[in-house]
Amino acid sequence: MKILLVGSGGREHALGLGLHADPACSELHVAPGNPGISEFAQCHALDVKNNAEIVALAIKISADLVVIGPEIPLVNGVADDLRRLKIAVFGPSKAAAQLEGSKTFAKEVMADAGVLTAQSFTCANVQEYENALDSFGAPYVVKDDGLAGGKGVVVTNNRDEALNHALSCGRVVIEEYLDGPEVSLFGISDGTSILAMQPAQDFKRAHDNDEGPNTGGMGAYSPLPWAPTNIVDDTYEQVLAPMIAEMAARGTPFVGLLYAGLALTSQGIRVIEFNVRFGDPETQVLIPLLKTPLARLLYKAATSGLADTVLEWRDQSAVTVVLAAHGYPTSPQFGGVVSNLQRIENVEIFHAGTSHGDQGLTATGGRVLTVTGTGTDLTEARDRAYRVISQISLPGAFYRSDIALKASVAEKGN
Ligand code: AMP
Ligand code: GLY
Repeated sequence: MKILLVGSGGREHALGLGLHADPACSELHVAPGNPGISEFAQCHALDVKNNAEIVALAIKISADLVVIGPEIPLVNGVADDLRRLKIAVFGPSKAAAQLEGSKTFAKEVMADAGVLTAQSFTCANVQEYENALDSFGAPYVVKDDGLAGGKGVVVTNNRDEALNHALSCGRVVIEEYLDGPEVSLFGISDGTSILAMQPAQDFKRAHDNDEGPNTGGMGAYSPLPWAPTNIVDDTYEQVLAPMIAEMAARGTPFVGLLYAGLALTSQGIRVIEFNVRFGDPETQVLIPLLKTPLARLLYKAATSGLADTVLEWRDQSAVTVVLAAHGYPTSPQFGGVVSNLQRIENVEIFHAGTSHGDQGLTATGGRVLTVTGTGTDLTEARDRAYRVISQISLPGAFYRSDIALKASVAEKGN
């Protein structure tokens, strides 16, 4: 099977490795890809915002399957364009991608599906902002209604800051604050069936102890030794299955990866957000742990064939740590030279924002690399990831030192 994977980040590097490792994948093409991916796949220059370029490349290489990594082409409807040409694609239609493209739409579908989430108001002017903020009280949660790459959300006790964020966005969703640990739980769907993956936890804030601004994600780990044992079944029953049924009933079936961002509150599971593609950096811990061959799995999802599939996992833990450029997420500094990428066993260095420059490997994105360690427990996985990331040189770069720390200490204590 010839596969075209679209995207260029750490998520795509991890997906690419998984696809490449499946013997059913005869050729792997990635567009635009990155220097890490180019070590095992053919990379093609391409603008992911341009549907026509994606379609033309899929035709040119006679792709049997197209896997779309990032949300932007999905929200732009590239999956519809490919399906019209009878090309199998892992990724939702434009209509279904609105689950990520519009927070208001996601809330409507959840309400119809009986899926529990934070109460919210969609607001577009100062009067509405103020009414909503005052009706919920602090901590305030203000979200840009459209796509913002995980950076459009402000959670603060400061009412002025909340109001200013709303003013800078225009149309926003202001909602109830959900207390409790966050979990990312992904489902792979063919439009009718959905398979729940094992849960992961992402670290959204830029700095240690969850300080600093929200980012796309600074690290992740899986599995979660502290999570309730029935979390996967409960999320399947309360969130994933009803969402897939509701989307199908609306005539806009969801095919692809449904990312449920959950809060485990004292009242039970609540949805914080949906994304319509693999999470980054959660994918960098989930793919190394997934035993089920990835190319065949995603092909089955793209061709209504998931019904009898079960996911199999390695009995291991994985921890990934993001190396971010100085200034990320507000004003990342590009152009620094990245060196000393030393490989050791049980560690993968995933490229996220790198290019080949005149002086060698160069940082060209806010999140530059993601380093994943695997091991028999979180402590071993963590040690391996940190051993490698601490050796990498990039002037001004930083990484969090507490990814999976609490969970690994708690796990050891058990
Ligand atoms: P989102 O882009 O919706 O995932 O929001 C980014 C981050 O903001 C989440 O991972 C949470 O840490 C936080 N957040 C969003 N919505 C809420 C909420 N209703 N209550 C508490 N924290 C939230
Ligand atoms: N890790 C958060 C995201 O992928 O949106």
